Amino acid sequence: MRGRFYGAAVRADHILQDADYRAALVRECLVLVPELVLKWAHVEPQEGNRNFQDMDVIAALAFQSKLKLRGHTLLWHKSVPVWAEQRLTADRGWAPIESHIEATVTRYDGVVGEWDVVNEPIDPWLRSDGLREGIFLQAFDEKYIHRALRQARKLAPKSHLLINEYGLEYDDDADRKRRFHFLKLLERLCYADVPLDGVGLQSHLELEKGPFRENVYARFLQQIADLGLKITITELDVKEWDYTLSVERRDQRAADAVRALLSVVRDQPALRGITSWGLIDRYSWLGVTASDLARYPNAW
Ligand code: XIL
Repeated sequence: MRGRFYGAAVRADHILQDADYRAALVRECLVLVPELVLKWAHVEPQEGNRNFQDMDVIAALAFQSKLKLRGHTLLWHKSVPVWAEQRLTADRGWAPIESHIEATVTRYDGVVGEWDVVNEPIDPWLRSDGLREGIFLQAFDEKYIHRALRQARKLAPKSHLLINEYGLEYDDDADRKRRFHFLKLLERLCYADVPLDGVGLQSHLELEKGPFRENVYARFLQQIADLGLKITITELDVKEWDYTLSVERRDQRAADAVRALLSVVRDQPALRGITSWGLIDRYSWLGVTASDLARYPNAW
């Protein structure tokens, strides 16, 4: 693959049901990312009873159409099967994680070229080191990140290995804290010689958040690059805010937010490419929420 890539998160059911969508994916994308079906709770709802059928649908399309795949994601606190959570709580053993990573990475060896090995390890609010409280940290402390990356590297030595994180774009208190703790984590991982190739910056933009400051964001990207890590924008999309505006104005605002981000990102040599979280609005995970409805009761 030359230059930088564009791709999108996809769902197996949409690929099977919607030929226009399938054609659009092949036309627009160089990389596909499974939105749901490679997450641990989806793959292994019961111990040892793995369902890779849905991921195979996506892998087949990628294979036929010569597209690349990013494996999303091996470890995410929001997708731990109940049985695994119980086991990890009971004996703090690595075995369930080991066999999950081994089965998943091995199955798509040579097909998935990059892995979101750990998703969303940061939570800036509870602990002084900014690591997310949860079952992985409780059982193994920060070493769970080291172990997962080392295991992934061993199984897939040629794959690009990432840590993926959200909430890093804006110059507000929460994002500032998350950026700080994320960079500290990356520094520690690099210092410990953990096999990490790059970071995934999810980039779920939100129009009620702000401000977005180009110089602040550019500095953050450069700090990542200075650690020798590559950068991928992994889940780009825009959550709207004011639904009373005309469709044109709303589209304009979303486009402006994306343009502001991309104008910084494209100047960073460490950028590999961008995947958006879905290709079309029809299938976006970002619907109108109950709080949107309450905020603008007359908008619909
Ligand atoms: C989301 C999916 O888009 C939703 O359909 C699902 O209900 C929950 O997960 N960050 C991530 C993604 O890393 O895996 C999440 O995907 C969105 C936030």
